[in-house]
Amino acid sequence: MRIVVLTGAGVSAESGLGTFRDKAGTGIWAKFDPMRLATPEGFAADPETVHAFYNARRRNLIEAKPNAAHAALARLETGLSVRGGGLFLVTQNIDDLHERAGSRHVLHMHGELLKARCSDCGAVADWRDDLGLESACPGCGNGGEMRPHVVWFGEVPLGLDLIETALMSADLFVAIGTSGSVYPAAGFVAEARAAGIRTCEINLEPSDNAGMFDERRYGPASEAVPAWVAEVLGEA
Ligand code: NAD
Ligand code: APR
Ligand code: ZN
Repeated sequence: MRIVVLTGAGVSAESGLGTFRDKAGTGIWAKFDPMRLATPEGFAADPETVHAFYNARRRNLIEAKPNAAHAALARLETGLSVRGGGLFLVTQNIDDLHERAGSRHVLHMHGELLKARCSDCGAVADWRDDLGLESACPGCGNGGEMRPHVVWFGEVPLGLDLIETALMSADLFVAIGTSGSVYPAAGFVAEARAAGIRTCEINLEPSDNAGMFDERRYGPASEAVPAWVAEVLGEA
């Protein structure tokens, strides 16, 4: 069986990384202005504030641990491949918790918080320290041009061609821990349905596009995802 899994901030919520939006309105975007902190214009206008926002999230991420949902998805990758199938894991998250839980192939369509990119030469480098205007590019050596390697609002997400190819050759599309409010990720379920592919949503509460899914499972990801994986691998 070939499965495409899309994860969002909800899969990392129980690892202590905040989500952006939820029905209670307690997400990150209820506290911070995304247009100031998550757009190229916001970064150009006030790079110090944007660097401080991401530096705080990077420090928080380095202290965080993967949870049972990340571990279950790593087991699913191995379990499917030994059965001649495959898992294509695409995440909107910029954390590295899937990798730390053992997932070997993860596509970060919104970039990665532990990487930085030079606006001068385009070099992308692993980056675990604080990033600032004094940070020098390991590629061209220029200072003051490093930015978080994160896809901001209005920028083009990464790997869309690979995601489309994987989606069209899948038997099942599963969205986990995403509100279904940000495109193009929120549109993947419609594309899967149009291609006759079964779809499933696993979330804490119905997402904005819950009605598009054939199957819907609700509960904390750390419980719902391991239960689903056990069923898929015939361990339930
Ligand atoms: P993002 O940059 O990861 O998401 C931006 C996406 O929003 C783009 O893919 C784009 O398609 C879409 N978009 C474009 N225009 C839009 C609009 N007008 N309205 C809504 N969506 C639009 O993330 P961000 O927005 O920069 O979020 C701030 C940071 O906090 C990110 O780095 C985010 O990943 C991070 N964070 C990460 C986690 C985690 O890794 N688990 C959890 C919470 C927050
Ligand atoms: N288990 C499962 N789902 C959860 C949990 C949990 N423990 N906690 C929260 N959720 C759900 C919420 O109910 C919500 O539907 O996870 C979803 C998180 O939605 P968002 O905060 O909108 O995160 P996401 O869908 O990943 O956002 C998409 O918007 O600004 C950008 O960077 C952001 O790339 C992200 C994009
Ligand atoms: Zn450079």
